[in-house]
Amino acid sequence: MHDVNQLFASNQAWAARMIAEDPAFFQRLVEQQAPAYLWIGCSDSRVPATQLVDLPPGEMFVHRNVANLVVHSDLNCLAVLQYAVEVLRVQHIIVCGHYGCGGVDAAFHNRAFGLIDNWLRHVQDVRNKHTQLLATCTDDTHRLNTLCKLNVIEQAVNVCRTTIVQSAWQREQPLAVHGVIYGLKDGILRDAAITVTGANELDTQVAHAVAQVK
Ligand code: CO
Repeated sequence: MHDVNQLFASNQAWAARMIAEDPAFFQRLVEQQAPAYLWIGCSDSRVPATQLVDLPPGEMFVHRNVANLVVHSDLNCLAVLQYAVEVLRVQHIIVCGHYGCGGVDAAFHNRAFGLIDNWLRHVQDVRNKHTQLLATCTDDTHRLNTLCKLNVIEQAVNVCRTTIVQSAWQREQPLAVHGVIYGLKDGILRDAAITVTGANELDTQVAHAVAQVK
């Protein structure tokens, strides 16, 4: 069994390292946080949000859940989104999916794990919406990777359709919503070909992104 005390020891070493590099680092963060980015990603331990884009504390507001879903009635996600957009005034919202996502895989294969099956129904909605496109994939790995990408696009669309983002665009607050996908195999973050900076761009951006999925 892993020892939690090891985490305290690692933390002390990390804090000491940060102070050695920049003595005022933590003091500055106490005074304010002004991140430019909101990250909505998967809870998967292999996709550590700030670490994979090499950002220090204070630079990115983060929300993670299984399969990086944005559900219109999820108060947790909506609260993060509202605070990020209206109070922190982030300029970019990044929805990050990843290849090899266990949540997407379970949803695709109708695997039963218990309560979480209900959450993953939202991924099945994405699968069911794009059955034709998925049917043209050459094999199972290709189909799963395609569903991971489609899921990123659909969740980015969900972000765009929230009242929070719609209102921000209405008052001309600069705000871009992006879809990206991370490769577990190579550690590389790739553009999912969707970037939306206003309500009127949504339909064309989605069509463009879906067309590039294959
Ligand atoms: Co995942």
